[in-house]
Order: sequence, then C-alpha cells, then structure tokens
Amino acid sequence: MKINENYLKLEESYLFSTIAHKVAAYQKANPQKKIIRMGIGDVTLPLCPAVVTAMRDAAAEMGRKESFHGYGPEQGYPFLKEAVQHYYFSRNIKLDEHEIFISDGAKSDVGNILDILSADNTVLIPNPVYPVYVDTNLMAGRKIVYMDANRENGFLPLPDDRVEADIIYLCSPNNPTGAVYSKEQLQKWVDYALSRNALILFDAAYEAFVKDSALPRSIYEIDGAKRCAIEFCSLSKTAGFTGTRCGYTIVPEALEFDGVKLNKLWLRRQTTKFNGVPYVIQRAAAAAFSEVGQKQIRENLQYYADNARIMTGAMKETGLWFTGGENSPYIWMQCPNGMGSWEFFDLLLNELNVVGTPGEGFGENGKGYFRLTAFGDRQDTAEAMNRLTDYLK
Ligand code: MLT
Repeated sequence: MKINENYLKLEESYLFSTIAHKVAAYQKANPQKKIIRMGIGDVTLPLCPAVVTAMRDAAAEMGRKESFHGYGPEQGYPFLKEAVQHYYFSRNIKLDEHEIFISDGAKSDVGNILDILSADNTVLIPNPVYPVYVDTNLMAGRKIVYMDANRENGFLPLPDDRVEADIIYLCSPNNPTGAVYSKEQLQKWVDYALSRNALILFDAAYEAFVKDSALPRSIYEIDGAKRCAIEFCSLSKTAGFTGTRCGYTIVPEALEFDGVKLNKLWLRRQTTKFNGVPYVIQRAAAAAFSEVGQKQIRENLQYYADNARIMTGAMKETGLWFTGGENSPYIWMQCPNGMGSWEFFDLLLNELNVVGTPGEGFGENGKGYFRLTAFGDRQDTAEAMNRLTDYLK
C-alpha cells in the first residue's frame, strides 16, 4: 500500500485549524480574558424563523410513516432546485433545473469538482486565496500557476495573455480580500477562458453581500460564461448555514470540452459518490429562498453590513490601508508599522484579545496583511475596533 504522497506537500495543518489551536492555547492559559473572534468567517446570528419552522416541520414529516423520506435524488429535491432556479431568475439568469446541483456547501463541491477534471490540467490561482483551491489541487498533484493579487491591482488580478491555464479559480466578492470584480473585469476573464478552452471555477459564496447593483453577483451575468464557467454558491454566509450545511453548484448544459458535457460527468460523479443533502436541511434551505425567508435573511445581512461599516470606519481612523467591507463581510488590512501578518496576529491575540486571520495564511502575497470578519456580534465588533484604534493611536 502506498499513500498519496501529494498530501505530504500540504502545510502541516489547515489554516483555520492552526488558528483555532493557537486561540485555544491562549484561552486555556488566560481563562479570565474575553477573546473577540474575528478570524474564521463563521456567522453568529441564528437561523431565521422561516428556516427553523421549515426544519421543524420537515423533522415531523420524517417521523411519520406516510411522509417519511429515505434516499433522495443525489442532485437535490426538485422543490429546492426550483427555489434556486427562481433565485437566479429574479436576477435575469435563466437556468434549467438539471443545471443545478444541491450540495452540502461550496467548500465540498469546490474540492470534489476536481474528480471530473484531468490531473494534467494547469491551474491558475490568485494569490492570496482561500486555501481550499490550492490544497485540493496539491492533493491531486496538479500543476499550479499563481497570479499576483496585490495592492497595485486592488487585489483583483486580470488575465495575462502570456499565461497558459486550463482551470482558473475566481472568487468575487473575494475571500480573503473582500475585493469585488466589475462586470467589465469578469468579461475579460470569460473572454480569456473562451479563447483558451479553459474552465473558470467561480466561487460566489459571498454574492449576497453585494449591495452595489452595478457589480455582478454571478458569473452568468457575463456574456459567454455559460460556455466556460461552473459556479459554486452556498447558504453558509447568506442564511447562517455554516453548521447546517447546504449549497448549490451550477454546471451549465453548454459547458462542453472535447465533445463531453461537464454536466453529465458531474451527475455521474455525484450519483456514485454522494447521496444528497438531508431532506430536513433541503426543506430548511428552500424556506431561506421563500419570500419571508429572504426578508428575514436580508435583516441578518444588514446586521453584518453594519458591522462592516463600523470596521471600515475604524480602519479609516487608524489610517491603515484596507480593502473590502463595502460589498463583502471581509476587511483586508495592511498590518501596522510594517509588521508581519503572524506577528500582528500574536499582538492582537496577546495584547488586545482579538482574533483575526493572518494574510500570509492565504499565500505569499498576503504577507503584511490581515483579514477581519464582520460576522461577529455587534457589541464585540465595536469593542474590538475600539481596542484596535486605541492601541494604534
Ligand atoms: C473563511 O473564514 O475563510 C471561511 O469561513 C472558510 C470557509 O468558508 O470554509
């Protein structure tokens, strides 16, 4: 038996696990300290009432013989796919139901999709980036080419015609930087992909945080995207499903490489390796898309947006360069006084008892930067920002 040696190329532990261990060790040594957590992008508001009611009703259905559900369709129940279809249609994007695949979250599908793509492909990944894109490709032994996201390009790299790539990862609004591509910029990426017969893997997990109606929330708002892009989306951040787990992946019918439809391959993969998301959770997710669910969710999104406004206000007060926070729940800031990002992490944890994520954990270009999330409690967020601004005065 031989192990997959590609795993040995990975960092010793996943970024957010490393941080969790450091924070747990600090808390153990200092049990009296109140730590404010703005590290991992985990939501703090509870599920909205419409979702909870649907979940409870669905649980009751499961407890009665006449309405019990066993295995469901691997790609999701029609009632939820219709809800997703309608969600896109309300933004003028037409999808066929079979182009929608319900998943247990964007993270799983972003990794799993690689099953249907050859290990020979060259992958183009922005740096800094959500670590899952890099790790899953390292696990498969794929060649990775990085593109620089930096202060000069607003952390929104554009295609370089000299670079050859088969698979391109884009995330907008971006994790970790909070930067958002314009339609014109995304059109450049779609044109680049089409000109090379390349595939874009578009992570739209943060689309619901876009307030500016001129900015795209889906890659399918861009001409030609259905011929070159798969979109991953999630209810984690939008509807507080980080612990509930439900997302969806769009694989358009028009997506065809070497005469093979990716939709067909993905369906084949899912029917073999996945037994679908639990019925109760799919009912809960469908409720999140209902009129009342959407209204309740928007209130929660507004709460986080208000947190972000407090944070951008504090950033302006410190005079530190930052991006994000306007159409995104993440603030990406330059560390003060030329500090390294882990150095700043330690300082925040030890001196201010605030946890963030070191930019370096997202790649080389994150060195000297730091990510804070707006998913916290209002009072905690305000308190953390006060501690920060006071300290930096
Ligand atoms: C993050 O903090 O980057 C996210 O919570 C990670 C994730 O969504 O998996």
